[in-house]
Amino acid sequence: MPRTCVRLDGAADSEGFRREARRLLAQGVDPGAVDWSDDAAQHGLSGALWADLPAEGGPPVAAPAAPRVPAAFAALCGDALLHGEPQRFTLLYRLLWRLLHEPALRHDPLDADMLRAQQLAREVRRDIHKMRAFVRFTRVDGDRHVAWFEPEHHIVEANAPFFMRRFARMRWAILTPERCVEWDGAELRFGPGADRREKPPPDAGESLWLTYYAHIFNPARLKLAMMRREMPRRYWHNLPEAALIEPLSAAAGERSRAMIEAPPTPARRIRAPIPLHPLPAQGAVPQSIDELRLAANACRACPIGALATQAVCGEGPLQPPHMLVGEQPGDLEDLAGRPFVGPAGQLLDQAMARLGWPRDAVYLANAVKHFKYELRGKRRIHKTAAQREAEACAGWLAHEIALVRPRALVALGATAARALLGRPVAVQAERGSWLTERSDGLPVFVTQHPSALLRLPDDQRAAAWARWLADLALARQRD
Ligand code: SF4
Ligand code: URA
Repeated sequence: MPRTCVRLDGAADSEGFRREARRLLAQGVDPGAVDWSDDAAQHGLSGALWADLPAEGGPPVAAPAAPRVPAAFAALCGDALLHGEPQRFTLLYRLLWRLLHEPALRHDPLDADMLRAQQLAREVRRDIHKMRAFVRFTRVDGDRHVAWFEPEHHIVEANAPFFMRRFARMRWAILTPERCVEWDGAELRFGPGADRREKPPPDAGESLWLTYYAHIFNPARLKLAMMRREMPRRYWHNLPEAALIEPLSAAAGERSRAMIEAPPTPARRIRAPIPLHPLPAQGAVPQSIDELRLAANACRACPIGALATQAVCGEGPLQPPHMLVGEQPGDLEDLAGRPFVGPAGQLLDQAMARLGWPRDAVYLANAVKHFKYELRGKRRIHKTAAQREAEACAGWLAHEIALVRPRALVALGATAARALLGRPVAVQAERGSWLTERSDGLPVFVTQHPSALLRLPDDQRAAAWARWLADLALARQRD
């Protein structure tokens, strides 16, 4: 029997397998006569899809008919194809062949080939789940995050869209021994694997990760001086990663050139969603809260903007008696796009309800418009905005106050108080009275932030709650 060799474009080339299996089935090529290989590099075929098609001069082949297989098998096949088992292509092509030639197969729950394929699919799904659960990002170089992960199967491409959606606003890369993937906020890019023997330890400094990151994705970005500064020479001899630095820097120019000259690979690109509304012109003063929302959403004046899901501007009536200002959106506000919907917001709601003060009588806003957090595993832990971040955001708050035109401002906590008064404020010392030092004449009342109450030990909470209610009642009186 003449043998047919089929070479796929890499281990995760499911598309290629499907196309080629269809062609072989259409030609009636027996499964026992096909040798499958996914090791394109070994054959010097990087980038080529197929070779060794059946001998030229054979009968012309019509467009391959799609084999009719049960939908459940197609899904099973999609998963099993990503397994590390080298025989998977042979197994799955044999199953496709048998499904076409042995009608009884689809009713046999104990067929050995089918059971094996199901097992492979299960193991791949478990690996996909593990990657989602256990990828841990380390922050490097500003807003970039890098993770190292060792999947058992060829799941990087299949899992990348999940991470893209989950961390859409972050710039990240996941490095694995076989494939690496990077999200720059607009596109997913895939690169070759990273070397397991030189993997940075989980607690490695940022520069080690950065070395990796640069190595895999963008030699043009290699910042040698910065790396030298961050990785003192005396440590180099102990660090396997240090060995990368010189060769990397030497090769960087060449690799950049190669990268620029390389043809694009459009088939693997996934675009970020297109914004639903056109953005206002940069630097233009927003004329409405909607415009403010769009403009703040696009703002990257401080590093927080790139990490958050969306900017969260305030809500409530215009020209209200009071505008309450908190610190910044939390996790739930970031996802909902609305202020004070999480635990702190619920406490504020309870306090206002106690006072018979309708929430929709006030305009509720935050001093900082984007959520700042630190990743711990998959959890986003709230971090207080730094002073320079609050300052970067002050312009948005000023625009918001100008658009809302409240008669008075209530600062919840120190960040809001400082943003509204333009100076450091000790909340405990200055709470409970109206301060009239703003140049626009708007009076400012300072009190605690609800989160501060949530953090208090049990034995202090009742007194703090009573005092907070008294503060808020006082603030409300100025109606
Ligand atoms: Fe801009 Fe404020 Fe967001 Fe920072 S937090 S990016 S300053 S809107
Ligand atoms: N804390 C704030 O300061 N603002 C919110 O919107 C939520 C929690």
